[in-house]
Amino acid sequence: MSRIFINYRRQDTEGYVGRLYDHLLKEFKPHEIFMDVQNIKPGGDFVQALEDAVSECDIFLAVIGPHWLTVTNDAGERRLDEWNDYVRIEIELALQYEKIVIPVLVGGANVPAPVHLPDSIKNLSRRNGLTLTHTRFGTDVEDLINFLRDMLPTHPTFKRKADPAVIAEKTAKLKEVRQDLINAKDSPLYDYRVAQRYYPVLGEGNVDANIMFVGESPGEKEAVSGKPFIGPSGEILDEMLAGIDLKREDVFITNIVLDRAPENRDPNKVELEYYGKYLDRMIDIIQPRVIVTLGRFAMYYILRKFDLPEKKGTITKQHGMLIKTEAHYGDLHIMPMYHPAFVLYTASKKEVLQADFEKLTIFI
Ligand code: URA
Repeated sequence: MSRIFINYRRQDTEGYVGRLYDHLLKEFKPHEIFMDVQNIKPGGDFVQALEDAVSECDIFLAVIGPHWLTVTNDAGERRLDEWNDYVRIEIELALQYEKIVIPVLVGGANVPAPVHLPDSIKNLSRRNGLTLTHTRFGTDVEDLINFLRDMLPTHPTFKRKADPAVIAEKTAKLKEVRQDLINAKDSPLYDYRVAQRYYPVLGEGNVDANIMFVGESPGEKEAVSGKPFIGPSGEILDEMLAGIDLKREDVFITNIVLDRAPENRDPNKVELEYYGKYLDRMIDIIQPRVIVTLGRFAMYYILRKFDLPEKKGTITKQHGMLIKTEAHYGDLHIMPMYHPAFVLYTASKKEVLQADFEKLTIFI
């Protein structure tokens, strides 16, 4: 995943950026550093491609050299003012997305004064810059790396396996939740469940999982068996998990709504509120470090639950983003993803979902 985005102007700082990249590689993996937007397909929307890349980063480094403000095109127009200048557009997006934006100053450059900047990026002047000097390049980059280490979301490894007593306790508590759900006569879908002889679908997997998946609601197959994600969406989920060497038993899989709704319709407000309480109990018991929301209903529920600013964003913008928050038991990351069913209808999204799953590997 591109956690660090390096924004630079080739004519201005290509050499410095090459050196910076080599130093960063000592600390970060290549896929954690994003430098150049490439492979925009013919007909592809380049602003969308830049937006996708910038929205995924955690920290945005704007590398500014001595000619950054003044480089011109063949017509003598300042590059920074060109309508399609990648450098300015990327900075606009980073400021818009409220990323951590750090001006990295090289070749004796200073943070540009607002008067020299296009209106859309004037706020860049207010960011404190970090200078990389020629003579102390290695040490200066070391300072930058220390800063990045502090600022980036933590890289938790798999939780240490809880001792058998804790696992037994968690299993017993989840059983209680299941029992409450079975007996929940006040649940909005209880009558339908009983009439259809369906099971409620609480969820399954590792009761002490690091990663918890929250889907939308059980389909017919799930309600008949009482197991989540065993239909066509489940096949996609299994494939995605296998792609990053995970098995169902490694994670916990559940839904935001725990009973099947008639005709697989979208969950309504009453159902989301009602079953949300059961999901909250499961989160409290399992205490995952990452909650992956599959589809917009789960995304909005979880982002609202933790009252995160992203609760207003769309899944198109936020899928694959690692959103850091605090649960009462410690650090928690939320990663919204598309629902596997969306991939069934829109095959081109499969690669997007795969790429988002890749990002989970930092938690494995
Ligand atoms: N099966 C589930 O369990 N949940 C979904 O969201 C879709 C299919």
